[in-house]
Amino acid sequence: MKQNTTIIAISGSLKSTSANTNILRAMAKIAPENVIVKIVEGLDQLPHFNPETSEEMPAVTHFRNQIKAADGVIFSTPEYAFGVPGVLKNALDWLVSSGELNDKSVAAISVSPMHTGGDKALASLMLTLSALGTNTPQNSSLAIGTIKSKVNELGVITNPETLQELKAVLTALLESIN
Ligand SMILES: Cc1cc2nc3c(=O)[nH]c(=O)nc-3n(C[C@H](O)[C@H](O)[C@H](O)COP(=O)(O)O)c2cc1C
Repeated sequence: MKQNTTIIAISGSLKSTSANTNILRAMAKIAPENVIVKIVEGLDQLPHFNPETSEEMPAVTHFRNQIKAADGVIFSTPEYAFGVPGVLKNALDWLVSSGELNDKSVAAISVSPMHTGGDKALASLMLTLSALGTNTPQNSSLAIGTIKSKVNELGVITNPETLQELKAVLTALLESIN
């Protein structure tokens, strides 16, 4: 039996104090011992997607290989102007033809200071993920609203309900992997 499960966690925000990245850090902390949640950094190092590009680009190859090697992927995204931030959409566009997300189990989260929790970005992300052929289990998506009331001054998630919701998302993802 496989010993460890590797989950790649991708934040749609480049902000150093990102609430989305903090959510992914919280998921890494609550994950079972045999589950490694690795946060991928450097989406801003990916070039703008161009379908005519045929040369091998190290940042793109590295990104694709990380996804390929993972058992599952968690996305957490802000909502920018009712959509997914360009940096995340750009990263996903690099995976369309190479297919690393095809049949991959994924979870999708959106986080916002607004009550809506960035639900429009989440819906848009889910649509894109479906175009990429991902396996999105039931209960593996979550919009988290009013995030500022759910973290402490260090960005650590302190709201018990939010932690329970994150556990449920992780459980749904792990069940679909196993
Ligand atoms: C350019 C821009 C557009 C935004 N548009 C939205 C929006 O449409 N809906 C929303 O809920 N929040 C919006 N926000 C606020 C973000 O939800 C907020 O900045 C959030 O904390 C970003 O997540 P992060 O902390 O992980 O970067 C926007 C923020 C920026 C900078």
